Order: sequence, then structure tokens, then C-alpha cells
Amino acid sequence: MVYSEIKSSEYFIELEHRFGAHNYHPLPVVLERGEGVYMWDVDGKQYFDFLSAYSAVNQGHCHPRIIKAMIEQAGKLTLTSRAFHNNLLGEYEKFITAYFGYDKVLPMNTGVEGGETAIKLARRWAYTIKGIPENQAHVLFAEGNFWGRTLAAISSSSDPSSFAGFGPYMPGFSLVPYNNLQALENAFITNPNIAAFMFEPIQGEAGVIVPDEGYISGIRELCSKYNVLMIADEIQTGLCRTGKMLACDYENVKPDILILGKALSGGTMPVSAVLCNDEIMLGIRPGEHGSTYGGNPVACAVAMEALKVLKDEDLAENAFEMGIVFRSRMDQLMKKTSIITLVRGKGLLNAIVIKPFGENKTAYDVCLALCKNGLLAKQTHGDIIRFAPPLVITEKQIHQACDIIEKTILALC
Ligand SMILES: Cc1ncc(COP(=O)(O)O)c(C=O)c1O
Repeated sequence: MVYSEIKSSEYFIELEHRFGAHNYHPLPVVLERGEGVYMWDVDGKQYFDFLSAYSAVNQGHCHPRIIKAMIEQAGKLTLTSRAFHNNLLGEYEKFITAYFGYDKVLPMNTGVEGGETAIKLARRWAYTIKGIPENQAHVLFAEGNFWGRTLAAISSSSDPSSFAGFGPYMPGFSLVPYNNLQALENAFITNPNIAAFMFEPIQGEAGVIVPDEGYISGIRELCSKYNVLMIADEIQTGLCRTGKMLACDYENVKPDILILGKALSGGTMPVSAVLCNDEIMLGIRPGEHGSTYGGNPVACAVAMEALKVLKDEDLAENAFEMGIVFRSRMDQLMKKTSIITLVRGKGLLNAIVIKPFGENKTAYDVCLALCKNGLLAKQTHGDIIRFAPPLVITEKQIHQACDIIEKTILALC
């Protein structure tokens, strides 16, 4: 193939295959532009984005206010490192701590770095405040969790496709079943050296697993009772995705440590944040943690604008309302086909479960057909399709998208 001459989808896919690591298996679509709820491929075909880059693009693709903030700051100052102060970081820290009601924030870049940071903070708190003997601190996670791909993240994973073949693993981690308060309490009783329980209020990558009502407030009560830090990983569920600013808001719960990422930049660049109060945050002293790019001026400008957009455009309310419309359409569709066995979700974080059909056809084949019909979504765990459009979606667009999903699924079975 002569690369410089052929600029079709196949050309770009072949380039990735030849020169990139094979650590993803994307749908065969090559995108070049995005705006609001839509993306366009290299042939100019328009798609509804029903993944939102795993909930990073809550504010919609290329939101004009976020892009403006980004470009303006990029023209002035992009990076100082934390060796020096910059005139955006303090403003951002003041803004985001007031926004979420915590004393302090620690800025990082990717979500998984946020998770790592939260665990370091918890371990330090365990030794200096809780009084756990040195190197004995334990962190609990829920089975089915996903918080990234670093060695610490995979060491706490129950999914062999995350951890298998990458040992040895980080010590001091263990798992309890998700959505099971009794198991959590038993773990707290059995092991006095537990520093923290880190969990997702809805498990995203596990397939949009929504726990029972009372689970999040139950975690809060148990963590307080046993002096264990409650770490909420709201990297996917936070920032209006589930119909509230934070998914923990459904149960009026304030975690001790809150981790945010993804939509904190509206899908423009990696920006994550760990929020907590002084007792926990001040355990880490100069030189003990950080990141070259964490808290860079562009990230600060972008994150402030991205957070303002969420409130100015009432995106929590819109996600809540549109989620109801979406699930009601999917419930109706489930009655017309036997291949959808379950519809679940909150706000605009939803999923359907697909039973194998036809000749060994699965959720992947449904996603391929949806793509052909102009809607982008991705299967997870073989049988689940997550539907998570940008939160700026209108009711008319939700219905148009549901029409595509309905037409596609009814044509397949
Ligand atoms: C709940 C949750 N936590 C953490 C992460 C990791 O974020 P990142 O890919 O930015 O490292 C993800 C990514 O999907 C996630 O869904």
C-alpha cells in the first residue's frame, strides 16, 4: 500500500495495525471531526456518539467554551512544572475545592493516576493518623472494579484480562463482593489494618452495574464506624453523567476522598483531580508525590470552564431526564425482541445485555450494525453494550438515536 496516496479508512486502520501496539480492538471506523453529540468519519459520514470516549465528553465534542479557554491559555503559557508557581493553579484549586466542598485538591492527569494518588494518600493517613503499623496498611476494592491499567490498578482487579500474565502484584490489596454491605463489614471486622475502601458508585467497565439503593450510604456508615477512608472513584460516574453532579449525591453521601477525571476536561486533554480534607491531604509533603503535567495552566483553564459548562447548561438535569426517555425506549424495544435480556443504568450511563443470537452473533455484531447505521457504541464483556451519549443530547436526538438502535436490532433478529 502506498500510504501517501490512499487516505481511506482502511489506510488509517492499517497504519495503526502496523505501527501501533495491539492493545485495543476498535470498531472499524476512522473519525476525524466531532461537534456536540456527533462525530464524522474520514468519508464525511455522521454518527451519534453513544460512548462519549467512556464518559469523558459529557459536555459534547469540541464544546466552544472549553476549546476557547484551551486555546486562549495555550497561547499564553502551557507548562511550568510544579518547580514554579503559575497564575492559574491557585485559581483552579480555589474553584474546584469550593465546587465540591473539600479543603484541598491534588491535580493529576489521567484517571488511573488519580486512583494511585488516592491510595497513596490513604496509606499515608493510615500510618500517620489511624496508627496502622508501618507497611501493614490494607486497601479494599470491590470485585468487578476497573480503575485503569497501571500495576496497582491491575493488582486490585478481579478480571483476568486485566491482570493475568502481568504479575507479581502489589501487596496490601484485597477484594470484597460489590453491592454487599455485610461482606464489607465482615472485612472491616476481620482486618483492623484496613486504610480505605475504594469503589465506583456504579461500576462502569464491569457493564454499568447499578448497586441497590442504600449501598453508598451503607458504605459511608461502615467506613465511619470502622475508621476506614471512603474513596469514591467517580471518574466515570461523576460530572453529571448519572443525572446528578456526582453519583454519590443520590444518597447525599460525601466520600472522604473523591477522584475525578475524564469529563473534567470535557474530552480535550487528560485532567484528573483528587479531593479531600486537610487531615488526609496534608499527609503528603513536598517531594513525596506529583506529576510534571499535573496542574498545568492549560489543564487548569480547561477544567474550570468544563465545570462551569456542566452547571450553566444544567447537564445533570438533562442527563436525568434524557436517561428516563432512553430507558423507556429500550424497555419498549426489549418487549419486541428476545435478544435484549436486560436494560439498566442511571442518567445517561446505561447498558443493554445482548443474548447470543443467529449464527454465533454477539453484542459486537450489534455494535458493527449500529455503526453502519450511524451510531457508535462499544460492547463490553462480550454481551453488554454501554450507551453513554454526551449529556448535551436533546430529546429529539435521543429519539432519533433510539430509532436507529431499534431498527438495527429488529433487523438483526
Ligand atoms: C471508574 C474509572 N476509574 C478510572 C479509570 C481510568 O481512567 P484513565 O483511563 O483516564 O486512566 C476509568 C477508565 O475507564 C474508569 O472508568
